[in-house]
Amino acid sequence: MLCLLNHTRPEWVDIAAADINSLLIDHAHCEKKAATNALSMIKLYPQHENIVREMLTIMKEEWDHFEQVYSRILIQGAHLTKDRGNEYAKRLSDHIRKDEPQRMLDLLLVDALIEARSCERFSLLAACPSIPAELRSFYKELFASEASHYTTFTELARAHFPSDIVKHRLHELAKIEASIVDTLGNLPTMHG
Ligand SMILES: [Fe+2]
Ligand SMILES: [Fe+2]
Repeated sequence: MLCLLNHTRPEWVDIAAADINSLLIDHAHCEKKAATNALSMIKLYPQHENIVREMLTIMKEEWDHFEQVYSRILIQGAHLTKDRGNEYAKRLSDHIRKDEPQRMLDLLLVDALIEARSCERFSLLAACPSIPAELRSFYKELFASEASHYTTFTELARAHFPSDIVKHRLHELAKIEASIVDTLGNLPTMHG
């Protein structure tokens, strides 16, 4: 799937499907963080018009996703609770280099990897027979949107850095991402 080097453990989708409310609450926070992350990229790199334009688009789409997931939480009779954090994203972000321009490359590629893993998880949820059909359709729609975000982040990386450097670093970070996915427990969260 995209640039990912491993698959989610097969038991994850059953764990997630058995606790849809927890999954949706965590998912809402993921969408919120994706929107605020796009805003932070604009704050960090206002001088790059292509980054500002693309992040504006992504920010609006992620807020729309947040609103859609939030509505589903309420329809379920559940409530949004405090964000418990995302161990996966936190551990991946630890590998972002501090100095520019490497920092910008790593930020774009870590974002791309998170979008790719989200896509993989959405495709698993969309195919899970124990999840209501309407929710499966929702995840199928989101898959397409997040796949386009993956493309945006990798294309921005290639617009600012030589393609061989992007390819090499993406592979390095993808190896780290795969090892993180292998070591995390199977929780009813989007990246758990
Ligand atoms: Fe999203
Ligand atoms: Fe996204």
